[in-house]
Amino acid sequence: SQEQKRSDYDLMEQTARYYQQQLRHHANAQLVIDYLKGRGLSGQTVKDFGIGYAPSEWEALCQTLGKNPKQKQQLIELKLATQKDNGRTFDFFRDRLMFPIRDRRGRVIAFGGRIMGQDDNGPKYLNSPETRIFHKGFELYGFYEAKQAHKKLEQLLIVEGYMDVVALAEHDIKYAVAALGTATTNEHMQMLLRATDKVVCCYDGDRAGRDAAWRALENALPHLKDGKALKFVFLPDGEDPDSLVQQEGKAAFEQRLVDARDFSDVFFSRLSDDIDLTQDAGKAKLLSLALPLIEKIPSEFYQENLLERLARFIGRTREQLNAKLKTPRQQHR
Ligand code: GTP
Ligand code: MN
Ligand code: MN
Ligand code: MN
Ligand code: MN
Repeated sequence: SQEQKRSDYDLMEQTARYYQQQLRHHANAQLVIDYLKGRGLSGQTVKDFGIGYAPSEWEALCQTLGKNPKQKQQLIELKLATQKDNGRTFDFFRDRLMFPIRDRRGRVIAFGGRIMGQDDNGPKYLNSPETRIFHKGFELYGFYEAKQAHKKLEQLLIVEGYMDVVALAEHDIKYAVAALGTATTNEHMQMLLRATDKVVCCYDGDRAGRDAAWRALENALPHLKDGKALKFVFLPDGEDPDSLVQQEGKAAFEQRLVDARDFSDVFFSRLSDDIDLTQDAGKAKLLSLALPLIEKIPSEFYQENLLERLARFIGRTREQLNAKLKTPRQQHR
């Protein structure tokens, strides 16, 4: 119900504030602050993103915001607390750096928590599981903050991690967002391409990052209307936006965005990766891979552009390709 939701958002906000207070007042506060400093983050950026600290104790949040049974039950339902079989409840996030995740209206709906010590206390990042107010595939970390920072978003940069978003903001690049530990979904791409005319994908310089880029490209195709641009930056091996912007600074990093590759280049280079285009079999393979994808694009301009290039790659005329389209298109030239 409306009532329930309002109360959920309220409890999430209170929790975010609690974690922020702990960053200043907990016995471990200095360790956490040192960690943040070590990662190059200023107090202002920490404040802008509402970064906090989840105490190391088992029931710190439960004892503060779950004093009565009803509230405790709500903490469990929002996955901020976990209930054991024996009925005992304890905090879901413990001894972690906390990133509140806001929806596009600025309401806290989930958290991401990073471990700061050695990795033997669980996974590096722990994210809120899905709840009645949090649906991963539809939310982007940093989206609200980016909208807050700009009257008009000239471009949006999509990166992999919380730390990438925050480190870029620290360097005055306040238009980065991150998918929440999942692939960039169709819905993410729709959100981004509705909010701005230019989306740049900039994933980590590793195998996973390159695969993520391709999935993002596929998911963006249905949302590529006329006037929308989709670009890709591929980072050097082992680097991510966080590590790079720390090394090279704002200007050099933004130059990478200027030099970004257009999606159409990435499209053909990825599809023809293991294909021998000097052979007929290879040409047929490229045709069968590319055509169904090209047909997903709503922009006639982009579609035509890709079809012309495809025709050239496989040594056919644009007219010959037209016969193969599910919905044959009129020729522009
Ligand atoms: P730092 O090591 O803090 O710089 O983080 P990173 O963002 O560079 O980490 P990485 O590139 O490994 O991961 C990118 C994103 O994937 C993170 O921001 C998380 O959202 C997610 N992720 C990484 N590790 C884990 C994990 O162990 N569990 C889960 N659920 N998500 C993770
Ligand atoms: Mn990575
Ligand atoms: Mn990374
Ligand atoms: Mn990183
Ligand atoms: Mn710097």
